[in-house]
Parts: sequence; C-alpha cells; structure tokens
Amino acid sequence: MSVSYYEKNRLFKLDTPRSSYLFAVSDENYLLHLYYGARVSDHEIAPSFYRSSYASFSPDATGGTGNISPDVSMMEVSGSGVGDFRLSTVILRYADGTSATDLRYVSHRIYTGRPDAGALPHVRLTENEADTLEITMQDPATGVQFLLYYTVLRELDALVRSIRVVNQSDETVYIEKLHSLCCDFPQNDFDLIHLYGKWAKERSPQRLPVMQGIQSVASTRGASSHYHNPGICLAKKDTAEESGECFGFNLLYSGNFSADTEADGYGGTRVTMGIHPKDFRWRLEKGDSLLSPEAVTVFSGQGLGEMSRIYHRLYLSHIISPYWRERKRPLLLNSWEGCYFHFDSDKLVRLAREGKELGMEMLVMDDGWFGKRDDDTCSLGDWFVNENKLKGGLAELVRRVREEGLAFGIWFEPEMISPDSDLYRAHPDWCVQIKGREKSLARHQCVIDMTRQEVRDEIFRQMKAIMDSCPITYLKWDFNRNLTEPSSLALPPERQGEFFHRFVLGTYELQQRLLDEYPTLLLENCSGGGGRFDGGMLYYSPQIWCSDNTDPIERLSIQFGTSLFYPASSMGAHVSANQRTGYDTKAAVALWGTFGYELDPEKLTDEDKETIKTQVAYYHKTYETIHNGDLYRLIPPWENGATCAWNFAARDKSSALLTVISIRKREFQTLIVRMRGLEEEAVYRCEETGEKYTGAFLMNAGLNLTDRDLNRDGASLLLYFTKQ
Ligand code: DGJ
Repeated sequence: MSVSYYEKNRLFKLDTPRSSYLFAVSDENYLLHLYYGARVSDHEIAPSFYRSSYASFSPDATGGTGNISPDVSMMEVSGSGVGDFRLSTVILRYADGTSATDLRYVSHRIYTGRPDAGALPHVRLTENEADTLEITMQDPATGVQFLLYYTVLRELDALVRSIRVVNQSDETVYIEKLHSLCCDFPQNDFDLIHLYGKWAKERSPQRLPVMQGIQSVASTRGASSHYHNPGICLAKKDTAEESGECFGFNLLYSGNFSADTEADGYGGTRVTMGIHPKDFRWRLEKGDSLLSPEAVTVFSGQGLGEMSRIYHRLYLSHIISPYWRERKRPLLLNSWEGCYFHFDSDKLVRLAREGKELGMEMLVMDDGWFGKRDDDTCSLGDWFVNENKLKGGLAELVRRVREEGLAFGIWFEPEMISPDSDLYRAHPDWCVQIKGREKSLARHQCVIDMTRQEVRDEIFRQMKAIMDSCPITYLKWDFNRNLTEPSSLALPPERQGEFFHRFVLGTYELQQRLLDEYPTLLLENCSGGGGRFDGGMLYYSPQIWCSDNTDPIERLSIQFGTSLFYPASSMGAHVSANQRTGYDTKAAVALWGTFGYELDPEKLTDEDKETIKTQVAYYHKTYETIHNGDLYRLIPPWENGATCAWNFAARDKSSALLTVISIRKREFQTLIVRMRGLEEEAVYRCEETGEKYTGAFLMNAGLNLTDRDLNRDGASLLLYFTKQ
C-alpha cells in the first residue's frame, strides 16, 4: 500500500517508488503540508517542518499559542478569507453575498484503485496500479464539504489529484474558484518552466526564476490554447536535463486554466492549478457536487528528462485509450497541404493510388468535403457531403480509396458553425453569443453552443449519418477559433458563469459518445495546429496535431517543448512539401511524432518518391523504439543555435535511434554527441555504418560526427543501433 496513516501524529505519507509526500492534521484540524520530494522513510520527525506564525499580522489559529497560522503554515489546501492570504484553492460565495472558505479535516478513507471521475478525462488505473487517499474536509460555518483525492501510482513517481465540492449546507452556494491542487514548498529557490507560444509556434519552453509575488500561466480563451499549456514545472536552480530535482504539474483539461506560483516572504512557494477563476461561477444547489479536473504531479530527482519520461510512460499507459495503447496507428496521407480546399473524388483517388505506391496506409480527406465549402467562409455545421466535389457520394469515394488499398479518414470541426450555413439559418440561437452584442467572427466562423444537449444531439446525428454511410477508420477533430461573447442563450443568468466549463464538458461528452459508438475509431484532435494540446484531449485521441507549422527546423522547438509532458506517439507530425530542407530532414523530424505525409504525391519527382519509400521502410523499422521507447533530449535547438540532437532508446535497451539536425552550418567545429538510455556493457551495431560500440562508449565518449555530412544548413543524420 503506497498510502500510510500514522495515528500518533495524525500524519499521512504517500510513497511512490522514488518520492514521498507527507502532510498531517493539526489540532485545529487544518491539513498542514510537510514534505514533497525524494523518498524518505521517517515520518516521526516530519512535524518539525511545521512553520509557526511570527507576526501579529498573521491570524493565530490556535487561540493564543502562536503555533499555527494559515497565513504562514504550509497548507495542504487553501481556503479564502480566513487567514491564508496566499493563492486560494477554493473560493465559495453564499446567498448573503459573503465569501469565506474554511477547510477543516473531518475524516479520511484509504482504498485501492482510484475514485470515480464521472465524465471527466482521467488517469485510467486498475485496483493493482494505484491506491487512493480520500480526505473529507468541511467548512465548520456552512457545512459545505470538500473531498480531496490523492491517487498514488505504485510503479511511477506520480500523484493524481482533484477536489470535489459537495454542498452539504442548507442553501445554494456559488463556487468562484475551484483549483485541482495546492502544493506548498518550504523553499523558493526554484525556476519555473512553462510552455508558451502562438499559432504555428506552440509550446516553446521558457525558464525563469520563481519571483516573489504571483506568476500565472493561463488561458482564458475557452481552450488550453496555443499561447500557454496547462503544464508547469518547478526545478531547482541546478536542475538540468539529466540531473537535479524537479516537480511537474500537468492538468488534464482542455479549457480555461491557470497554473499559478506564489513565493512568499517566509521563503516558501505555493503552486495551485486548475480551471481559471475568470468568468467561472458555478451554482451548487443543496446536495449537488462539482468535481475539479485531475492534475498529475510528478517528482524527478534525475532532471527534466526523467520527469518527461515519467509523464510519457504514464500518458502512454494510463491516459490514451486502451484500444490504441497496443496498436500501431496507420501511416497516413493527409490532403490538406497538398490540396487545401481544391479536390474532387478523382483527385482523392489519385492521391490514394500514388500514396499506396509510396507505402501509405490511409488517406485522410481534410477540410472542404461538406456543405458548399470551397473556402473557409461557409458551411461549418452542414455535415453532409458536397456532391459537386465528391461525385457519386462519399460511400463511392471510400469504396474507390479502399480498392486502392488504403483505409479512409475524414475531417470535422464539430464545435463550429458558419453564419453562412443551413444550420445557422435554421437555429441562429445555437451560436455562442450575448444578446445585443455583435458576434466576433474569427476565420469567418462562430462557435456552436456545446453546452446544449439538443445541439450536441444534432451534431452527433449528422456525424453519425456520415460515419455510418461507409467504413471510416480515422476522424480529425478540428477547432479553429477561440470563444468570444461567452454565453449560452439557454442558460439562466445565475448559471452564465458555468458557460466555459460546460462548453468543455459538452465537447468531452460528444467525443466520448463518438468513441462509444465507434470504439475502434482513431481520433486525432487538432486546433488550428496545436491549440488544444493537453492531457484532457489525449484521453479521447491518442494523437493530437502538434502544429500547423510543418517546417522541420521550426518544428524542433515545438517538439522539444511538447515533449516536456507529452509522449512522442501523441505528437501529430507530417512530412510536407515546400519547406526549406530536403525530404531527409523533414522525415528525420517527423519520425519523432506519429509520422505521416501531407503533400500531393503527383507533384513529387521520381527521386523524391524513392526517398519517401525508403523513409516509410525506416519508419516501420524504428516504430517500436520511438513509440514505446524512452526519449532523451541531448542537444535542444536553442542550446548553441547550430545543432540539435535527441535519441530514443527501447525500454529494454535493445535498440536506439539517434537523430542529429544541423540547424545551420557550423564553421568546422567539432561535433561529438553522447547518447543516453543504453546498456553500458552491451554491444550495439549501427545499422547505417556497420560499426560496433559498447553502450558505455556511446554514452560516455560519444560519437564523433565532425566529419559526417552535417556541415550545411538543414542537414540531418539518423543512426539506428541494435543490441548484438
Ligand atoms: C487547421 C488544421 O490545423 C489544419 O491541419 C487543417 O485541418 C485546417 N485547419 C483545415 O481547415
């Protein structure tokens, strides 16, 4: 059992293989945090970590002893208005207009497995894989209850946390803030690492000191967004890729979020993370409850690389759907960058035929097949086939594509509605809007009201008609704008503050409904590239389109950043035409992800076609090593501006793939690359050169690549090693 309770000190200890997390119940029934970090065996000593109150400005919770103040102590969960002035985890407002939230321990339960997550995406765990500590807290003044969940993984250094608010009071209450976790540290000498960006430049890491005061990484766009990602890391100053301590916090949620840090004057740091409180106000009737999204925390004592590998293993084994966990995904050819909106059935069949020649396994028909859509100005919401383009209908097209030997995939953008669509003309009120305000358009489109059951039913009905009309094995689910005028015409005024969260819940419900109906469907989420790349989406779709930027050099920082939390097999990555490097480098970079092609094979030269055939064979050969292996980030693209390198190693260390990219020509400098994740004593043979090395040599001395053909802009090198 990885959860222990010590009655003497009323102390809880959560242990993963290499980490411990301790907190205790004070005499006043506060939950006081004690320790999170590398595994420790002592628990008796732990209360010495209590921080006492020092000043008259800090409310004394002990009736005069000055021992405990919520202002100073490390709190396991923070309320508001009752003495803890730092970041609140939960804020409630009551019928009398006041707002104070006091959380006191009442009882706890320890059980194997995990709690019910209702309709929220969650970490999938069996009874044998985890133990849960469930603590019941209560506000003594109102009776409102708070259930704190800590699910402790037995094999990975990770905790899963969430909070449920249960209205046991006698009146309706409003939740104004519900974060999923609070984590106090007695130090503030941390760096904060987070991922920022924009469209076509998603998830670049930024590392900066945790400063006194509050730092917030957040999105209020209705989606987790291109701009910030719901994942942050606190790293000690000396923590590097392969050494030092760090703590990861990743939220399984696709909507508005904030991940906040606050360093205080006593030398501590608090982290809270969850749904963004802006525009959030959830009405909780007597007896009702609301569960927060889950947050996954990871501790690593071996640097950022190990933290990432723990997340990767966890997300591969416990987030993505069990159906796709063990299955190889089809190698796809997507029509978007090759054709954009300009295709018909004959063109798609030609793509399939040529694609088959190259080794593709599936054709994906992207945007442009429905309503009267020839550009992005119309037809979202009209999910019926444009027979002017697809003459003979969809079933006939799919029959022809399958006759060429390829499976078929399709594109939808279910959460959107074009003002120029039959659906909009029939149901103008189904559009997200505020009465009396102009609707802001983005990409000429509006957002459909996913909070409404009848809207989801209609979109599902239309999608089902398409899906049932022919064999479709893959669905790309796009989302090409963010939410403005955030309101539902169907919600009463007192529930408008629920709109953003209800929207996300509506999206989750529709994706789950699709998967329930078509359990073998491969879903790929997308949002104008990687505008909704998060653990929530990953629960439904094992892969997410990483970015609309398919330039391999630009992709380096995007993929390095994304890999801080998300595994290789989740990153949609395609080889496309018209970029500044050759096909060798495009493929070398795309191999890191799901791998596929997004171009018109009819425009390829014979030489390019032969190159692509070779790449496809290489993809099959290295698939296992990449998709189920461990990632080692060797030289990030920003380190010296010239060279970037990484390697994958199979978990049993039987093979490894080294990738080196020359961002720009180096002026004849020595280039030695040291690999990671190999078996020291084992001998590895490099398939490309036939040379043999011990694992120790490859990891300690490294490979001297100075004379390899890497000394030009955009060059690349792939070396595959197998254990002899
Ligand atoms: C944005 C996506 O990221 C692209 O891959 C493509 O599907 C377009 N939308 C289609 O409109």
